[in-house]
Amino acid sequence: MTTTVPHTATPEAVFDAAVAADERIEPRDWMPDAYRATLVRQIAQHAHSEIIGMQPEANWITRAPSLRRKAILMAKVQDEAGHGLYLYSAAETLGVDREELLDKLHSGRQRYSSIFNYPTLTWADVGAIGWLVDGAAITNQVPLCRCSYGPYARAMVRICKEESFHQRQGYELLLALSRGTEAQHAMAQDAVNRWWWPSLMMFGPPDEQSAHSGQSMAWKIKRHSNDELRQRFVDICVPQAESLGLTLPDPALRWNEERGHYDFGPIDWDEFNEVLRGNGPCNAERLAQRRAAHENGAWVRDAATAYAAKHATAHQEDRA
Ligand SMILES: [Fe+2]
Ligand SMILES: [Fe+2]
Repeated sequence: MTTTVPHTATPEAVFDAAVAADERIEPRDWMPDAYRATLVRQIAQHAHSEIIGMQPEANWITRAPSLRRKAILMAKVQDEAGHGLYLYSAAETLGVDREELLDKLHSGRQRYSSIFNYPTLTWADVGAIGWLVDGAAITNQVPLCRCSYGPYARAMVRICKEESFHQRQGYELLLALSRGTEAQHAMAQDAVNRWWWPSLMMFGPPDEQSAHSGQSMAWKIKRHSNDELRQRFVDICVPQAESLGLTLPDPALRWNEERGHYDFGPIDWDEFNEVLRGNGPCNAERLAQRRAAHENGAWVRDAATAYAAKHATAHQEDRA
């Protein structure tokens, strides 16, 4: 932060002035405890979503229909692992430990996006996830590039560039299926039918029920409300669905001249809440696989720690 405030100002006044001036808050700056706690919760949930989100698509790597598709999908799934790493690192700048965050994920004390609790039943799901899920993620994340917390905002710049590749590959995959045989077209349509509503739920509960939104917007962690972002996403998707030759499964979807936006039907928030409560189709499977991956990777962490310790001793001996 560089805002000039009198040096008699309280740390809180300095923080408020920096936020008001649209400056970035950096790890060593004073910040309110609740601001720190909100960021830890949000960045951790975001990081968890990136790494759990690898699972539904990784399910198709061995069954990708061509070498080209396999290479693209592998690159995408690896990108998601990278996003998790940037975000855990960003969370660590707030004084938490990655190990502790993973422990909270594994014990169900911290969440990941409910979208990843749905199954990937066919190859077309890889396309629908790229187009809709990564598309919704971009809509949510582009404004986060201007988030008031510096490390989170900077991580988001790179993530958004990669997400836009993810969205394009999904769109292109669906386009190929949509223009393919009748069976391929039907497979693409079925995937879009299943992923559309869960994608709209990714923006979170309606504004009037959103517990954290107001304060997050005042702190400029969040720049737009859940409903605003959801509307933006719907407005982007409708013409894209038309170009794809696919329909969106909502009979209430129509252009509203007066509002200058598409109207859409009611979202089934009961389903959303059930999935959040752990009762989605794949909640148990996703967490079990994550815990197993963590245990299977213990030797890598041990080896890396031992290697770092060995080098630290060698350096000390060199200096002695
Ligand atoms: Fe990602
Ligand atoms: Fe992605």
